[in-house]
Amino acid sequence: LAAIEISMNDIPEGTTKTYEWRTRPVFVRHRTKAEIDREKAVVVSELRDPEHDDVRVKRDEWSVVIGVCTHLGCAPIAGAGEYSGYYCPCHGSHYDASGRIRKGPAPRNLDVPPYVFKGDTIVVGE
Ligand code: FES
Repeated sequence: LAAIEISMNDIPEGTTKTYEWRTRPVFVRHRTKAEIDREKAVVVSELRDPEHDDVRVKRDEWSVVIGVCTHLGCAPIAGAGEYSGYYCPCHGSHYDASGRIRKGPAPRNLDVPPYVFKGDTIVVGE
């Protein structure tokens, strides 16, 4: 299936946009310095699904995740929840701005799709 090309210029700092890739939503978040600092400082050993932000992003300013809750597959809301990342209203899962599960029933972090940076685009699916 085809990869999608996302123009980074379309996503102002501090915002998240949703795209569709292989019938699933993909959240692309242009993170602020404050968000980056906050996510880098999280103590990984306290996480349910322990992953450092460094292994979830290829560039600190950009977080790319699949927008499907790892609990039962609802679509989380971007820019919401107690950890200022994503909030799944179905059963109350809160994800941070790295897409890591922080509170609620979801067992795993939001998945990171394959992607690469090419010029001023992010190509998801390569
Ligand atoms: Fe997201 Fe249950 S499907 S919390």
